[in-house]
Amino acid sequence: MNLTELNKIATAMVAPGKGILAADESSGTIKKRFDAIGVESTETNRRDYREMLFRSKEAMSQYISGVILYDETIWQTAADGTPLVKLIEQSGAIPGIKVDEGTQALPMCPNELVTVGLDKLAERLKKYYERGARFAKWRAVIDIGSGIPSMTAISVNAHALARYAALCQAAQIVPIVEPEVLMDGDHDIDRCYEVTQRVLNKTFQELRVQRVALEGMVLKPNMAISGKKCTKQASVEEVAEKTIRLLKACVPAAVPGIAFLSGGQSDEEATAHLNAMHKLGPLPWGLTFSYGRALQAAPQKAWSGKAENVAAGQNAFSHRARMNGLASRGEWQT
Ligand code: 13P
Repeated sequence: MNLTELNKIATAMVAPGKGILAADESSGTIKKRFDAIGVESTETNRRDYREMLFRSKEAMSQYISGVILYDETIWQTAADGTPLVKLIEQSGAIPGIKVDEGTQALPMCPNELVTVGLDKLAERLKKYYERGARFAKWRAVIDIGSGIPSMTAISVNAHALARYAALCQAAQIVPIVEPEVLMDGDHDIDRCYEVTQRVLNKTFQELRVQRVALEGMVLKPNMAISGKKCTKQASVEEVAEKTIRLLKACVPAAVPGIAFLSGGQSDEEATAHLNAMHKLGPLPWGLTFSYGRALQAAPQKAWSGKAENVAAGQNAFSHRARMNGLASRGEWQT
């Protein structure tokens, strides 16, 4: 493992003014997104859509530091035969790959999940590195509800995240460690804070036990935020203040960067929250976005599967990327 090189990549992923495009929707998830805009989820349509994003010159060269790809996409070529990975590299962004294989029901723990995909991961990472991936992502899912999460779910998911992270670093790939506490549900921001604190503490404990070098990773957490169905929605300032307090308490300064998931927030909320956090600096780590929905909802709608809408889709993507780029410096204004 070359830790200097891993640290250089992790630092570039969270460079001020830039963030990560999470374009790693599984086939099932992208079908849901395409259904919403009336587009059939064929391999060609998925390729055309992602090619549109990766050829968005302004967004990709100025505001996007890296792109998380799904397995299908990393092997695909653009309509002119250029590998999609090359399009990303040519724009100056770093290609990354989602390597978890989704979730399964966790035995003995009703309504809880464990993320799977460790078997053969070392071999898969080698192939992804050869194809150009320099970072990877693994997402654990923790749900808040009556009697959950259990310590069992927090613990097994943290263990798997650390196993994945160690394998990545051994393969000279920067792991994005993503323990997502879902914002579905009617819990308030303080319950989210308390659960996320337990999850982050357990995750860093496992990372240490398994000898993961914190300098060579990026954390992808949820924000401390009210559940979507909570009757009392916390303000932007409260989300920013509680999230920063939480992260300062749980995330060692050796970690080069934190890149948030959007998790179902609206486009503007996700931007406003990140921006407000940068007003609370100085911060010990880089702090930016790794948004999926909050970067792609607008371009998906503008594109709607029509070739004549490609420029409109790219404009919509560049706009959101620019807004989040500004937010990552605390310079966004409504
Ligand atoms: P969202 O920003 O849509 O939550 O997606 C980010 C992601 O990569 C989830 O794993």
